Amino acid sequence: MIIAGNWKMFRGPDPHALAGLDAIVCPPFTRLRACVEAGLTTYAQNVHWEPEGAYTGEISAPMLLEIGVTGSLVGHSERRQYFGETDQTVALRVRGALGAGLRVIACVGETQAERERGETEDVLRRQLEVLEPHPDLVLAYEPVWAIGTGLTATPEIAQEAHAFIKSLLDAPVLYGGSVKPDNAEGLLSQPDVDGALVGGASLDAESFRAICETGARIRS
Ligand code: PGA
Repeated sequence: MIIAGNWKMFRGPDPHALAGLDAIVCPPFTRLRACVEAGLTTYAQNVHWEPEGAYTGEISAPMLLEIGVTGSLVGHSERRQYFGETDQTVALRVRGALGAGLRVIACVGETQAERERGETEDVLRRQLEVLEPHPDLVLAYEPVWAIGTGLTATPEIAQEAHAFIKSLLDAPVLYGGSVKPDNAEGLLSQPDVDGALVGGASLDAESFRAICETGARIRS
């Protein structure tokens, strides 16, 4: 069971309040070192594919590894929606990061309009066909309509999507999209849900801890 907290562009909780937690935290770049120093398994929220170069505003895998960062998110829907990330740049970032020795959580998921048009499987197929299995690659299914909206996918919807994703690419699949302490149990109990990527509820140490405890109870 893998529980990861995506702090997005929020300062997030005091890393020491999370000490001892069996979880991944994904803080903003400026908080990475504090999380590493607090002993947390720490991932960045994005990473460039080149080790260095003239890429203003980007951070490379060797730079992250140098300060003790373990992995990175790649292809979060907010990167795709607001910052022009495409399936091709996601593939480059995933390949570059894995090649440099970082672990990766690669995010996929359909928008509300795509789901309503019955295109969910086509979208997932398109997003996944650019990726290859790797021992350090984990996927996150994050339906865009469930992110930050309080609209969680039902456990059945999540299970169906996770099983489909695994039929295309052999990797653990986390569910993300409005995971909270009170809905974590139903989602994490599904056979193909291997963990959660938690946004809003990871900003509060107590609710993040509660979700981690639910995960540990289910797979113990
Ligand atoms: P949310 O975010 O839990 O706030 O919906 C999840 C994510 O974007 O990773």
